[in-house]
Amino acid sequence: MELYAVVAVAFWAMLPAYVPNNAAVLAGGGRPIDGGRTLDGRRLLGDGKTWRGTAAGWLAGALLALVLNALQPTAADLSGVALPVFPLAIAVTFPLGAMLGDIGASFLKRRTGRQRGAPFPGVDQLDFVVGALLVALAVDLLGSLSWFSEVFTLPVLVVIFVLTPVLHVGTNVGAYALGLKDEPW
Ligand code: CTP
Ligand code: MG
Repeated sequence: MELYAVVAVAFWAMLPAYVPNNAAVLAGGGRPIDGGRTLDGRRLLGDGKTWRGTAAGWLAGALLALVLNALQPTAADLSGVALPVFPLAIAVTFPLGAMLGDIGASFLKRRTGRQRGAPFPGVDQLDFVVGALLVALAVDLLGSLSWFSEVFTLPVLVVIFVLTPVLHVGTNVGAYALGLKDEPW
């Protein structure tokens, strides 16, 4: 596959895992998931992980996957790239995996003494990627979909792990500049 095709597949496949974070920032607030509970004197997750933000992120990602499915024939035609279609089980669970990865990272941040919003380089940029990919892999194996290995070839995975941190830093600096986020990471 040509490099541009690898990048196009990587970006298209990951969009439903990228959008949940941004939707959560826009919709976040209200009751924290951990309900204020602590572990060893530190918050379990912190006030930055809310039910509303998580639900909004999940929903936005799942809806986007369905929209991409509807656009796929046209986009594939125009680009000449065999862009992936998301099986329903993946469309629903992939963005949830992204949110769970982000929540898992907050759990780790609190255990390592980082306050809400403190940067955790590497983890901040890839937590949602790892969460989404692991959940998609599990769903794929459970449902014998053989979708995961078809879409996430080694070159596509390499591009994802290089491209995502760049996009993540870029969008967060943008969201910070627009006053939507409290920190630029
Ligand atoms: N958010 C949310 N629920 C989530 C994820 C994010 O409500 N599951 C919202 C919160 O308002 C959060 C903002 O999106 O403050 C930014 O998300 P993130 O950077 O992940 O959270 P932080 O506030 O930086 O907290 P943490 O240190 O735990 O990452
Ligand atoms: Mg943060």
